[in-house]
Amino acid sequence: MSVNQVMVIGAGQMGAGIAQVFAQSGLKVKLNDMNEEALNKGITGIEKRLQRVVDKGKLTADEQAKANELLSGTTDLNDASDCDLVIEAVVENMDVKTKVFQSLDEITPAHAILASNTSSLPITEIAAVTKRPSQVIGMHFMNPVPVMKLVEIIRAIQTSDETYQVIEEMTKKLNKAPVEVNDLPGFAANRILMPMINEAIFAVHEGVASVEDVDTVMKLGMNHPMGPLTLADFIGLDTCLYIMEVLHDGFGDSKYRPCPLLRQYVKAGWLGKKSGRGFYSYE
Ligand code: CAA
Ligand code: NAD
Repeated sequence: MSVNQVMVIGAGQMGAGIAQVFAQSGLKVKLNDMNEEALNKGITGIEKRLQRVVDKGKLTADEQAKANELLSGTTDLNDASDCDLVIEAVVENMDVKTKVFQSLDEITPAHAILASNTSSLPITEIAAVTKRPSQVIGMHFMNPVPVMKLVEIIRAIQTSDETYQVIEEMTKKLNKAPVEVNDLPGFAANRILMPMINEAIFAVHEGVASVEDVDTVMKLGMNHPMGPLTLADFIGLDTCLYIMEVLHDGFGDSKYRPCPLLRQYVKAGWLGKKSGRGFYSYE
């Protein structure tokens, strides 16, 4: 099957990044958000980032104009009616995601593939709420999407080989590196990354070291590009907590219990960079 028209649902940091990469790769993409303000912020952010890439001499003005032309925004999910591929990147919450997939199942053409950018939620369960489970798959991009090469492709137990192949080919077309992963909690990336971030939060919670010093240990001691607490703020502390809860519930193992300090920060609305405050301040 050929993919001509794509839609990305959710214009937050991930959705906007995914839409940008599709447009830069020459594909027609509609960015959707239920919130007009979030949609405008997403579109403006893409335009600014494309301009920055042009300023750095890594994209020509013609390529920029083409990418802007291929990109459009909408708050109406019914605009998915002519899409061959839809990638959902809304909040990490099963109820919200299943509602989006049920609507997409009604709206999109029968051949369309429905992918989720979920960080950790079971693709098998998402696929089961649709009438096309063999055409549902996980396409997990990393943040910031325009920079990071990896895409985890997650097979639900219902996913067909054909669906997998279309998504693997598409990932390569986006100049990303696909890795095939099975549908277990946290997949591979977050099963490994999130316990490290959670442990860094425990280290602060238990007074082992300050926020800055924990980050310095991992940056200078392990050569990580960002310390784990800076990275947690960058990902979003709400997303980190959702992922830890999926790991904890999914494996039933206390080693995945979310740090109480993480819960407190999320309850306080300190969600990291996107809310202006997390382990650091971004005012
Ligand atoms: N969007 C787009 N591009 C961005 C960006 C953003 N938010 N932030 C930085 N960049 C680009 C810059 O424009 C720059 O591009 P050029 O090389 O073309 O000039 C490049 O990235 C490097 O940026 P900087 O020099 O400003 O800064 P840096 O060297 O510190 O790199 C970084 C920034 C790439 C974000 C780096 O700090 C990094 O790799 N951090 C770790 C990121 C990471 O671990 N991501 C995975 C998160 S987990 C996840 O995504 C899965 C999940 O489900 C939660
Ligand atoms: P975000 O909070 O920045 O953006 C979510 C967007 O979805 C918001 O703009 C919101 O208005 C919109 N939205 C919510 N419900 C919607 C609906 N029903 N229809 C349309 N739009 C809706 O979140 P994010 O960080 O971009 O994360 C999105 C998804 O990507 C999550 O599943 C998350 O786990 C996953 N993810 C996040 C990261 C990360 O580092 N933040 C990395 C990989 C994957």
